[in-house]
Formats: sequence, structure tokens, C-alpha cells
Amino acid sequence: MEPSIVLSIRGLSKRYPGRRGVQANDGIDLDVLPGQVVGLLGHNGAGKTTLVNQVVGLVRPDAGSIRLAGVDAVADPDAARRLASIQAQANVPITGLTPRTAIQLVGRIRGGSRREVAARTQGLIEALDIGSWADMPSQKISGGIARLTAFCMTAVVPGRIVVLDEPTNDVDPVRRRLLWDAIRTLADDGAGVLLVTHNVREAERVVDHLVILDQGKVIAADTPAGLASSTRGVLTVELDLVPSVGGGVGWPPGVTETTRERLRAAGAVPAEQAADVVRWAQGQVDAGAVERYALTAASLEDVYVRLVGSDRVPAAADVELAVVA
Ligand SMILES: Nc1ncnc2c1ncn2[C@@H]1O[C@H](COP(=O)(O)OP(=O)(O)OP(=O)(O)O)[C@@H](O)[C@H]1O
Ligand SMILES: [Mg+2]
Repeated sequence: MEPSIVLSIRGLSKRYPGRRGVQANDGIDLDVLPGQVVGLLGHNGAGKTTLVNQVVGLVRPDAGSIRLAGVDAVADPDAARRLASIQAQANVPITGLTPRTAIQLVGRIRGGSRREVAARTQGLIEALDIGSWADMPSQKISGGIARLTAFCMTAVVPGRIVVLDEPTNDVDPVRRRLLWDAIRTLADDGAGVLLVTHNVREAERVVDHLVILDQGKVIAADTPAGLASSTRGVLTVELDLVPSVGGGVGWPPGVTETTRERLRAAGAVPAEQAADVVRWAQGQVDAGAVERYALTAASLEDVYVRLVGSDRVPAAADVELAVVA
């Protein structure tokens, strides 16, 4: 293993036993460098949590190797837990504590000095704008604040590798931005970050590398730009349909439909036909068949949907409209 690689996974396989046993991970290779955020994408049940739980020694692999800062994490799961910090998919209950005391407690357990931990806790509370809840009993805090507290507990004394399993769940859009910045900062400060998320559009801003899992196998691994390059020259047209007209709206020549729901439809448009499609869409608005339309560059989410299939799309992130009628 190159000394600069903080996490190196080779041929990792895990099957859950039982009559209806599942091959949750099937020969996975993955590397994370210090300073890098690696995004792990995949539909529900693709095997993401199984993968990260093996990295931190919570699940034992059937085959393959995991080296964490040079240490064999399968042979020595205790060392793995010291070298890694994880924000699990489900929050750890902090009953009887306030967010601040919970964050500080983890910091102290992970070996930080009282002063360092107090300062770092305050820094994270400010960075995520959760000061109003920081000293409240945990039973009074909302789901989103609990999720952000769990992130702070992971980040207060970060390991060489920081594993985040869907950290943005339940977090409001404004604080999600603060959280994405805090995740980026963890890597900029030197940790390797392995980030599980369904939020493809937002993750694109902070990840250096993306790995897409499907049925326990890696089906694509590249930089966001590398993955998106397959969509160069193609735009996406999105329509919000008028309820009374609904599915009755077709497409002009050149547009290939990618999704259709009751009140939304989207299609792929070759760039040279963009002007014609905008004219057509404006005509649909004028005729009352379409509420509004948008023409955007094909996104990483489009690439993702194409790779894993539109029948297994993750919860849609906010859609930004670049051209709105
Ligand atoms: N403890 C378990 N025992 C048996 N099967 C399990 C167990 N945990 C997970 N599985 C199965 O293994 C597969 C992978 O699950 P995993 O939780 O790793 O998926 P995931 O990619 O994290 O999904 P999600 O996006 O929904 O969190 C699924 O088919 C799941 O049902
Ligand atoms: Mg999961």
C-alpha cells in the first residue's frame, strides 16, 4: 500500500447468513487518501452501510482486506476503531446529556484534552449554527439538530479516516450547506473522509471522488467531472405539468424522455437543439399545458440514474431551475 493511502480496501465481500442470505458486498476495491472526500453512492440496500461498518470493525468481512493507515483493520478491529471515527446511519441516543456535553464526552474519550475539546466543540457548534440548542436537554432537540450533534460527536476529535453514513438526513437546506462546508473542512485539515449519501446534487460540490455501488459491487468510480463527462453536449429539460393536462404533453423531435411522473417530466436534449426546445417549451406554457420549464446541464444525478436505473432513484434532492418560465 502506498504510504499516502489512509484507507485501502481490496476484494471485500460480506454475505449475511440465513435462509434468504444477501451478498451485501461482493469484491469491493476502494481507496481514500488523506485530504480527500470520497462519496459512496448507491440505492437502498446496495451495501453502503455494510461496507462502512466493516471499515470501523463493527461487521466482520467474509473475504478481502481493509488497511487503515497501514493497520490491518480485519485482524485488529480495536485499532480500526481508534483510527476511524464514524457517524452511523442511526443516531446514538444521548439521553440525559445536552448536545455540548455529548460532543465533549466523545472528544475526551477519543483522547482530546479538556481545553482542546471545549474549543473544538464550540467551533463546531458555531460552524453548524446550533448554538440555541447546544445546552438544552437532548430530549428537547429536534431530529435535524440531533443529526448535526451526531456529526459533531464524530468530528470533534476526528480519526485519520472519518466515515459519515448519510450525515445530511433530516437537516434543513441552510444547515445542510454549513454541514457540507464542515465535511470539506475535515478533509482540508488532513483526514480522509468516506461519505455515504443519497444527496448526489449537493455532494457534487464537496467530493473529490465518487464510488457507485450496485448490489454489493462497484459499478463506477471516478471524479465527479470524469463521471459527468459522459453527458457532455447533452442538456436536461424539465417540465412542471399543469394538473388538468397532466400526462398529455409529448416531446418535440430530438428529446429523449428520461423520467415521467404525474406532474413532472424530464428529457435529454442534444445541446444544438436547446434553442428549439426552449421555444417549444415556452409555447407549451403559453398554451397552458406546462406550468414552468427549466433547461439545465445534465447533472451527476442524471449519470447516477442512468447507471443504477431510474426505478431505484434515491430521494430527489432540491431541483434548481436554471431557466424558469
Ligand atoms: N444485519 C443484517 N442481516 C441480514 N441482512 C442485512 C443486514 N444488514 C443489511 N442487510 C441486507 O444487506 C443488504 C445491504 O444493506 P446495507 O444496509 O448495507 O445497504 P445500504 O446501501 O446502506 O442501504 P440504505 O441506503 O437503505 O441505507 C440489504 O439487502 C440488506 O437488507
Ligand atoms: Mg445504509
